[in-house]
Amino acid sequence: MDVSLRRLQTGDIDQVIEIEREAFSPLWVTTPFKRELNNRYACYLVACEAAEEEEPPTDADPEGSRSLWSRVLTSAQRLVPGSQGDSDSPTPIAGYVSVWYQGDEAHITEIAVRESLRGNGIGELLLIGSLREAVEYGSEVMTLEVRVSNFIAQRLYEKYGFKNVGARKAYYSDNREDAVIMTTSPIKSEEYQSMFRDLQETYLTKWGEIRFQSKTTGSSQS
Ligand SMILES: CC(C)(COP(=O)(O)OP(=O)(O)OC[C@H]1O[C@@H](n2cnc3c(N)ncnc32)[C@H](O)[C@@H]1OP(=O)(O)O)[C@@H](O)C(=O)NCCC(=O)NCCS
Repeated sequence: MDVSLRRLQTGDIDQVIEIEREAFSPLWVTTPFKRELNNRYACYLVACEAAEEEEPPTDADPEGSRSLWSRVLTSAQRLVPGSQGDSDSPTPIAGYVSVWYQGDEAHITEIAVRESLRGNGIGELLLIGSLREAVEYGSEVMTLEVRVSNFIAQRLYEKYGFKNVGARKAYYSDNREDAVIMTTSPIKSEEYQSMFRDLQETYLTKWGEIRFQSKTTGSSQS
C-alpha cells in the first residue's frame, strides 16, 4: 500500500481517535478533532493509503517514482477541510500529526503511527509534512514536548534538528512524568533548509516507494 499525506477529513476521525488511544495513555484526553477541523491556527495531516491513481512512467520519470512526493505535496495543499476530499468511504489511516500555530512557533501537539505499522518511515513522513507546512505558514521554529522516557520519538526529532532546550516538571498527568522541551533552529534559515533538503533526499531514496509491512504478520498489506 503506497502512502501519502493529506489533511485530516471528517471521515478519518474515527480512525485517528483509534490511533490516538492506542498511542497515548488511557488517561489522555481525546482531541476534539471535529471541532479542530475549523481551527485555522492548526494543521492536521494524516498518512494514508494513496487514493490517487499511479502516474504512468514517463521518459523523465521512468519508474513513475515522482508519485510519492508529488502526492504528498499536491494532496496536502489541495485538500482543505470540508472540501471535495471528504467522503463517506474511509481510507486506511496509518498515522497523523497535529500542529498548532502559536505566534512564531509551530507546536507539534501529537504525532502517532499505528503500532503495527511503526518503523516504516511513516512517522518521519508526518514530521517532514508538518515541517513543510510550518514553513509555508510562516512559522519561525517548530517546538514540542516529549516524555523523558520516549527515546524513539526523541531520536526522530533529533534527526530533524530538534534540540533539548528545557524541561517541564511532572507535565504528564497520568504518571507525573517530566517533559523534555525540544525546538528547532529557525526553520526558514538557509542552514536549516539545507539540512532539511538533504534529509528529504535521503528519505526519498530510502522510502521512495513506501510499502507498509505489518510487524505482526510480516506480510505486505498492500
Ligand atoms: C514516534 C513515532 C511517531 C515514530 O513513528 P515511526 O513511523 O515508527 O518512525 P519511522 O519509521 O518514521 O522512523 C523515523 C526515525 O524515528 C526514530 N526511530 C523510529 N523507531 C525507532 C526505534 N525503534 N528505536 C530508535 N529510534 C527509532 C529513528 O530516528 C528513525 O530514523 P532512522 O530510520 O533513520 O533511524 C511512533 O513510534 C509512535 O507513534 N509512537 C507512539 C506515539 C508517540 O510516542 N508519539 C510522540 C509523542 S511526543
